[in-house]
Amino acid sequence: MKPRNKPDEEEAEFFHLPSRKNWSTRLIKFISALVVFMAGLVIGLSLSGRFNAQTEIFFPGTMYSVNCDKDFLGFKSFVTPQHLIHSMTDEELFWRASMAPKMEEYPFQRVPKVAFMFMTRGTLPFARLWDRFFKGHEGQYSVYLHTLPDYKLNVSTNSAFYGRQIPSEEVSWGSVTLVDAEKRLLANALLDFSNERFVLLSESCIPVYNFTTVYNYLIYSAHSFVESYDENSQEARGRYNRRMAPTIKLYHWRKGSQWFELNRELAVYIVADYQYYSIFRKYCKPSCYPDEHYIPTYLNMFHGSLNSNRTVTWVDWSRSGPHPATYGAPNITADFIRSIRNNGTSCTYNSKPTSVCFLFARKFAPNALGPLLALSSALMGF
Ligand SMILES: *[C@@H]1O[C@H](CO)[C@@H](O)[C@H](O)[C@H]1NC(C)=O
Ligand SMILES: *[C@@H]1O[C@H](CO)[C@@H](O)[C@H](O)[C@H]1NC(C)=O
Ligand SMILES: *[C@@H]1O[C@H](CO)[C@@H](O)[C@H](O)[C@H]1NC(C)=O
Ligand SMILES: *[C@@H]1O[C@H](CO)[C@@H](O)[C@H](O)[C@H]1NC(C)=O
Ligand SMILES: *[C@@H]1O[C@H](CO)[C@@H](O)[C@H](O)[C@H]1NC(C)=O
Repeated sequence: MKPRNKPDEEEAEFFHLPSRKNWSTRLIKFISALVVFMAGLVIGLSLSGRFNAQTEIFFPGTMYSVNCDKDFLGFKSFVTPQHLIHSMTDEELFWRASMAPKMEEYPFQRVPKVAFMFMTRGTLPFARLWDRFFKGHEGQYSVYLHTLPDYKLNVSTNSAFYGRQIPSEEVSWGSVTLVDAEKRLLANALLDFSNERFVLLSESCIPVYNFTTVYNYLIYSAHSFVESYDENSQEARGRYNRRMAPTIKLYHWRKGSQWFELNRELAVYIVADYQYYSIFRKYCKPSCYPDEHYIPTYLNMFHGSLNSNRTVTWVDWSRSGPHPATYGAPNITADFIRSIRNNGTSCTYNSKPTSVCFLFARKFAPNALGPLLALSSALMGF
């Protein structure tokens, strides 16, 4: 007998299919046997007191855990995450946040929201003013806070800032870690698919118009508000590094305030970019400030037509020096706030002139809160 014969016979037996009738009776017999066996197993295990431990194998506890979101793979928590705490690394977060739907229609009632993203070291001296500003507009905004990694913000549960801290990292001013924090804020905010406009603010910023005006201004703008300009000076072109060429040339180089406003499309592009970001990380070192150049330059290179090239955050650079003027309690008057809201000049909004150029202002010292609360309702409508 040839050695091969035996396996061949086994194969023949294996592939021999019984008639359909035969097959189904066998299946029924087998299933009944299995059911009896499983029932016996479960009774046996419960009698031996080990049932609970054993069920873990069949039904992992996490699936039924009370603390866990019941909507585990559900739609609602996917499009509107309720909790901001997650364990993603920046790399994982940016990848996830860079995903954009291919379909134009949303399968839910989408009310576009403005994401107010605060970059702070910790305390928010103007939280009470902002809370007044937000009041009554729930569902039209979301708040995100980037703080020092271990900072615990102490605000009441009815504050718009309550529970809005995102997983944060150390930031050193003037370094690329500031851009990292901006991208981290954008990426966390992008996870909520209703966020349509993204404003970066600091703890020394205040709103100068009421919510409705700010919301409509941003939501209906055809352009984003990222200051972006070219200037033949040490603080602008002077910060360009020739080693960025040929990817970034001097004629691409732009400067602008860090305090940007982006629409969703541009926010996705910024979070998704690694190529240009990494050139800034490598070659934009002191005294080049990546936060003043990366986004203005990147948008100028690829998405200039979507940018207004101006900022909506007022600041006073009129006193020369490395820092803008700070306004404290003695400086706050109705006339001063009026002059920020409308200083007599006009700017362009959706290709038409308007006197409303600034929606926010900086920098304000914490002691400005009292005087601002005293005049906000009469002057600014909140
Ligand atoms: C938080 O703020 C409240 C009210 O201002 C205060 O009573 C409380 O001591 C603060 N808690 C912490 C941990 O600072
Ligand atoms: C902003 O600058 C870009 C060039 O980066 C230009 O294409 C665009 O038209 C400018 N936007 C406005 C509103 O003028
Ligand atoms: C604020 O008021 C103080 C006191 O009147 C004054 O010395 C200071 O220059 C003012 N600051 C600004 C930025 O106007
Ligand atoms: C109004 O604000 C703009 C931008 O800050 C500034 O360039 C301009 O000089 C101001 N005009 C007046 C009249 O203060
Ligand atoms: C908000 O401000 C606008 C002007 O900017 C004003 O017309 C409107 O009445 C204000 N709304 C409220 C509720 O105060």
